[in-house]
Amino acid sequence: MYLTREEERILSGECGLGKQKAMEILAALGEIYGADKLIPIESAQIAGVSYKTIGDAGLEYLADLTGKVVVPAMLNPMGMDRFRWKELGIDSTFFEKQMAIIRRYEMLGVEAQCTCTPYYIRAPRKGTHLSWSESSAVSYANSVLKARTNREGGPSALAAAMIGKTPNYGFHLDENRIPEILVKLQFQLVGADYGTLGYVVGRMVRSKIPAFSFVNQPRDDELKALGAGMAASGSVALFHLDTTGKYEETLEVQPADIRLHSTGEADAVVLGCPHCSRAELIEIERFLHGRKVQRPLWVCTSRFVAQRAAKTVSRIEETGARVICDTCMIVSPAFEGCHMMVNSGKAFEYGPSLCRSPTIMGSTEACVEKACSA
Ligand code: F3S
Repeated sequence: MYLTREEERILSGECGLGKQKAMEILAALGEIYGADKLIPIESAQIAGVSYKTIGDAGLEYLADLTGKVVVPAMLNPMGMDRFRWKELGIDSTFFEKQMAIIRRYEMLGVEAQCTCTPYYIRAPRKGTHLSWSESSAVSYANSVLKARTNREGGPSALAAAMIGKTPNYGFHLDENRIPEILVKLQFQLVGADYGTLGYVVGRMVRSKIPAFSFVNQPRDDELKALGAGMAASGSVALFHLDTTGKYEETLEVQPADIRLHSTGEADAVVLGCPHCSRAELIEIERFLHGRKVQRPLWVCTSRFVAQRAAKTVSRIEETGARVICDTCMIVSPAFEGCHMMVNSGKAFEYGPSLCRSPTIMGSTEACVEKACSA
């Protein structure tokens, strides 16, 4: 990979150890994937935040890093709500370790906004290059916002943030963004159907780039759910809604294909995977209006969105439900082993494996009904 003189200087250590280590990561990635050069990025989003997932080894790795990020950078969800951790049953040892991780990132100049929906805080501009880690955010950035990012690991996203550049390969290049398979639906979808569709289609297309032909025009929140489901079940990082062009493969999805046999009991209902938008909080509040929950109902969102929807949040909480920020049902230890009901294809995929939680899925309305029934 070609490096400019300035990039060579960084790699040789002339600009400090922190930048040198970051450049080593980017140079190695560029060589592995055949990148021609480094390209500037607009922002970074960094995974590897929850103490549940990175543990003491991750904390030690972060403690060794020096330097500062040079582009706006945010974090993926951590393992708890930083203020309501006791309500989640988090112990003080976990709390201390988690906050030590957050402080390490802050010392590197990373904003401690812990969310998988960073685009509600600062949406990337169309056509700009990013270095984002969270798979659902990568899908949304590539497919809905028309920015360009590979799915980065936490260390490579942080390295890109320190240098302000990323290797030019994969989804940064036009030739790797061409749709490969047409997915046709001849029936209308509503709400959580999109998350289920993502979960099902992800398994079918496995990393290929699908283009969807829908009967009805999905809302952005529905596209978020679709992309999150496909990213989780099939590592799909980009999809299209423009179906003009020729396809060698066509996949026809029937209503029966997205009817998951998903029934069973739930100790808790957990919504907000990916983190809820303001519109999704309003929808949840509408279903809950005038009722009281009979079993725990947790709603995950970013602190940024919760603060801007404070009235909606307090109306949700009047019903006994809890709106939690900074974290989610998958990366927090609070939901380990819990029988969960979710409205998300991604949480449905990861609940059993990453939380050892028998997980069932339904629409947002069905989830609220479950929470309000004895
Ligand atoms: Fe976000 Fe957690 Fe789901 S990070 S996409 S809410 S698994």
